[in-house]
Amino acid sequence: MLALIKNIKNLVGVESTPQLRKQGKEMSVLETIKDAYLVIEDGKIKAFGEMKTLAEQSFDREVDATGRMVFPTFCDSHTHLVYANSRELEFVDKIRGLSYEEIAKRGGGILNSAKATAAATEDELYEMARRRLEDVMRLGTGAIEIKSGYGLTTESELKLLRVIRRLKENSPVTIKSNFLGAHGIPLEYRGHQEDYVDLVINEMIPRVADEGLADFIDVFCDQGFFTVEDTARILEAGIRYGMKPKIHANEMAVSGGVQVGVKYGAISVDHLEQMGDAEIECLKGTETMPTILPGCAFFLNLPLSPARQMIDAGLPVAMASDYNPGTSPSNNMQLILSMACIRYRLTPEEAFNATTLNTAYAMGVSDILGSIAVGKKANFYITKPIPSYEYMPYAYGENKVERVFLNGVEI
Ligand code: NIG
Ligand code: FE
Repeated sequence: MLALIKNIKNLVGVESTPQLRKQGKEMSVLETIKDAYLVIEDGKIKAFGEMKTLAEQSFDREVDATGRMVFPTFCDSHTHLVYANSRELEFVDKIRGLSYEEIAKRGGGILNSAKATAAATEDELYEMARRRLEDVMRLGTGAIEIKSGYGLTTESELKLLRVIRRLKENSPVTIKSNFLGAHGIPLEYRGHQEDYVDLVINEMIPRVADEGLADFIDVFCDQGFFTVEDTARILEAGIRYGMKPKIHANEMAVSGGVQVGVKYGAISVDHLEQMGDAEIECLKGTETMPTILPGCAFFLNLPLSPARQMIDAGLPVAMASDYNPGTSPSNNMQLILSMACIRYRLTPEEAFNATTLNTAYAMGVSDILGSIAVGKKANFYITKPIPSYEYMPYAYGENKVERVFLNGVEI
C-alpha cells in the first residue's frame, strides 16, 4: 500500500538526520517543509519533500491536505490509563483545603483507586481502558506508556498488566508497559513498609517477569511513599529480571529520587517539581531523560519544575500527561504542549520536541517514532486548517487535530 499526503501547508517535525533525543539548544530546532508531500508505504514513512519535487507516479491512496499541517503524533511517555474509578470527590476535598498527601494518609488517593481496581474484573478494566485509549488517539497521541500501580496486591497488579498487554495486542497505538507495584503503601503495611517492598521484590517482580508483562520498572520514590533505599532494592530486582528503570521522583520533596534513578540508569525520571542545583548537575551527561508532568502540577497546584533552567543548562526535557484519576485526569497532549509554553516558558519548537521526540526517547521508541523521518512508523496527524504551527500551543483547550494516521492507516 503506497499512500500520498499532498499539498501539506507545513510538514512539521521533520528530521533529515534522525537523533534519538534533543537536548539544550538542539531543542529549539524544529525542521519544517512548506507546501510539502509525505509518502507512506507499508505503515512506514517512505519519503517527503516539497510538492514541486514530487515525481509523477501512481498511489493506492491520495489525501489532499490543502490548508492543513502535518505533525508526528505525540508520544505520551507517562500515564496510568488503566484504572477503575474517577476520583472527583477527592478533587472537591482538595478545593476545600486538603492536600494530596493528607488525602493519601487517610486511605484515599492511590488506595482509593486500589480498592476499586480489586473489585473490577479484567474484562471491565480492559473495556474502560480501551475507550480511554480511543479518545487519546483521536487527540493525536500515537505512542503511550501505561503503568500498573492501582493493584498493590500481586493478583491485582497482574490483572492491570494483563489489561495493558491486551491493549498492546489490539490497539494501533504503540504501547509500553511499566510495572509500578511500588506506587502506594497498602494500609496493612503501614509502619513496616519494608515488608511490602519484600512482596514486590520476591513475589510480584518474578511473576510479572514470568509472564513477560513489563518493559519498565517504576517506584514512587518520594516523601510519604517509598524511600531511596526501597527504590534501590526494587530497581535492582527489576533490572535482574530484564526491566528498565523509569521512575517517579521529586514530586513532593527533594527526595533523592533523581540521584537513585540516575544511579540505576533509569531511562527517565519523572515529575521533578522539587529540584535543586544538585539534581540538575546529576542529570548532566547521563542517558536519563528528565520528564516533567505539567498536568499534575496544574491539577495539584504544585510548584513548577524548572524546565527553562534545565534546558539552559544543556539538558533534554520531555513533557508527558501523567493521565491518571488522582493527579492529572486529562488525556490531552495538545494541552500539555500549551502548558509547556504558557507555564514553563518553552518556545513552541522546544515544546514540540519535548512532547514528541524526547517523550519517544523516554519510552524507548525514539528510533521508530517521535518525528517525521524516513523509515519511522507513519504515525502522524493532519490538523484542521490553522495559520501557523505556533497556533498549536497558542490555542489552548481547542482540538486542532482533524485526522490521525497510525502505522499509515487512518483511525
Ligand atoms: O504520577 N505520583 C504518583 N502517582 C501518580 C498519582 C496517582 C494517583 O493519585 O492516583 C502521579 O501523579
Ligand atoms: Fe505518574
